[in-house]
Amino acid sequence: MADIILGSCCMLVLVCFQVLFADVHRGHYIAAVYEHRVILNPNPTAITSRRSALQLMNRNLDIYEEQVIAAVKQGAQIIVFPEDGIQGFNFTRTSIYPYLDFIPYPDSVTWNPCKEEYLFNDTEVLHRLSCMALKNQVFLVVNLGTKQPCNHSDRHCPPDGRYHFNTNVVFSDSGTLIARYRKQNLYFERAFDTPPEVDYTVFNTPFAGKFGVFTCFDILFYEPTVKLIKKYNLKQAVYPTAWMNQLPLLSAVEFQQAFAVAFNINLLAANIHRPDLGMTGSGIYTPSESFIYYNMENDKGKLIVAQIPITSGHETNNNMQTSFSNSPMDHQICRKEDQEAHCEKAEKGAQEAPPIFHGEMMYDNFTFTPIMEAEGEIQVCSNTLCCSLSYQRLFVSKELYALGVFDGLHTVHGTYYVQACALVKCGTLDYTSCGQEVTKATERIDFQLQGNFSTAFVFPLLLKSGITLDFADYLGWEKNHYVMQKKGASSGLITAGLYGRWYEKD
Ligand SMILES: *[C@@H]1O[C@H](CO)[C@@H](O)[C@H](O)[C@H]1NC(C)=O
Ligand SMILES: *[C@@H]1O[C@H](CO)[C@@H](O)[C@H](O)[C@H]1NC(C)=O
Ligand SMILES: *[C@@H]1O[C@H](CO)[C@@H](O)[C@H](O)[C@H]1NC(C)=O
Ligand SMILES: *[C@@H]1O[C@H](CO)[C@@H](O)[C@H](O)[C@H]1NC(C)=O
Ligand SMILES: *[C@@H]1O[C@H](CO)[C@@H](O)[C@H](O)[C@H]1NC(C)=O
Repeated sequence: MADIILGSCCMLVLVCFQVLFADVHRGHYIAAVYEHRVILNPNPTAITSRRSALQLMNRNLDIYEEQVIAAVKQGAQIIVFPEDGIQGFNFTRTSIYPYLDFIPYPDSVTWNPCKEEYLFNDTEVLHRLSCMALKNQVFLVVNLGTKQPCNHSDRHCPPDGRYHFNTNVVFSDSGTLIARYRKQNLYFERAFDTPPEVDYTVFNTPFAGKFGVFTCFDILFYEPTVKLIKKYNLKQAVYPTAWMNQLPLLSAVEFQQAFAVAFNINLLAANIHRPDLGMTGSGIYTPSESFIYYNMENDKGKLIVAQIPITSGHETNNNMQTSFSNSPMDHQICRKEDQEAHCEKAEKGAQEAPPIFHGEMMYDNFTFTPIMEAEGEIQVCSNTLCCSLSYQRLFVSKELYALGVFDGLHTVHGTYYVQACALVKCGTLDYTSCGQEVTKATERIDFQLQGNFSTAFVFPLLLKSGITLDFADYLGWEKNHYVMQKKGASSGLITAGLYGRWYEKD
């Protein structure tokens, strides 16, 4: 079908190009991400041949090619595909071998696989990708499995004499391999090795300057992600992922947006589309706008194309500062240290302190306190983190909400230290249901949420009914508290969270 359309519309496509490119505002560019419904090997642990591995991978690459063409038709200058989108997942070290391409260090050799097909063996996938980039004149970011022979003189070299890397590659619009990144934070991927040294990968584009590269689980860690962004003062990043959603705090789109906001960067995030495995949620994010896809119902991939500004510095944050200074909610902020001075509201609420209870949320032992009134202020603490909430319910529904706090080492499916404040909708009216995965809510709440975090890295989460996203009216530090404020929401609240990562304590 794609061939017929192409054949008959060549002229049309050319005309479209001109219109679209003329329309790219100065300081903007057009990005695309593709949420791919990966065709999986039904038996990934079985040993197969390179030929049949290539057959399966080519079926996924056929879809990539269609999407590259579709994206470029809409003016895209860069397109990002998800992690594991070509070969799938759940391989063993042995069974993945036929799926791996060889890749030289991009900085040791300038290589255009499409033009120099036979320079290296076992590079069929790279060859096809390079040709896609060249033919369509688009920057292409793709994740694939790669192999790299090593010597036993290298003490990290695995016993079988080769590394297997979960790798992102970037091709320029002329098909040249310009960057490769080897995933640092593997997520129980027994087929792959952690690279012997951390990759800090960036690549340059003529339309938007530098982009950083990292993948999936990396987004939660200092190495390489935070260091990379700081080291190169990055304003853009590409992010192939295969992310299993976990509510209330780690749904893909929720955290991707929080990351773009927290670092004030543009993030191009492509996830796998497999609702059966809990994987969906991709987007093009700027610090103030999100173009997302999240769909647990259908089984189709999705191309997202959006024109976005090249993020330059501080504009967005300044807007937030001004809107905060004349906020009518200011006077309701009530902290321990200035309680005596001006805190009438607290006295009213003090007549009956709401109960405190513990509950498991995302395998962590949160301390909760429920919202009991139509409006009020509540506080809950754990270790050195105190979270407080001042709230006003716009109409009081029969839904239970609770403010939760966690300050501790998360140890299930990865080890990392979390400091979190979260206002969540509970599953039922029972306290034991607080922390459950909830996707729908009707209640709209004006609130100010804050916590005295010990880390500067706080990711602001704001998730609404039906897994849609919203932006806070104000975000930022006030003395030693990180504050998020939101008023006048148009739909029900699922989660308002401040997810802090205290990297030094991992
Ligand atoms: C892959 O493995 C995970 C966990 O081991 C499992 O939940 C999932 O169903 C597997 N996926 C496939 C496609 O086999
Ligand atoms: C590729 O593999 C063939 C067959 O094993 C070998 O003869 C050839 O030298 C290899 N080429 C390169 C560039 O390594
Ligand atoms: C292994 O070491 C030998 C001898 O030092 C060297 O010639 C060869 O290139 C090395 N191979 C790799 C894959 O590093
Ligand atoms: C959660 O923490 C509280 C306070 O430290 C403790 O009393 C409770 O037993 C813990 N719950 C679980 C399930 O570990
Ligand atoms: C946060 O506030 C609580 C209560 O005022 C205090 O005990 C705790 O030490 C504070 N934490 C930090 C890191 O300042």
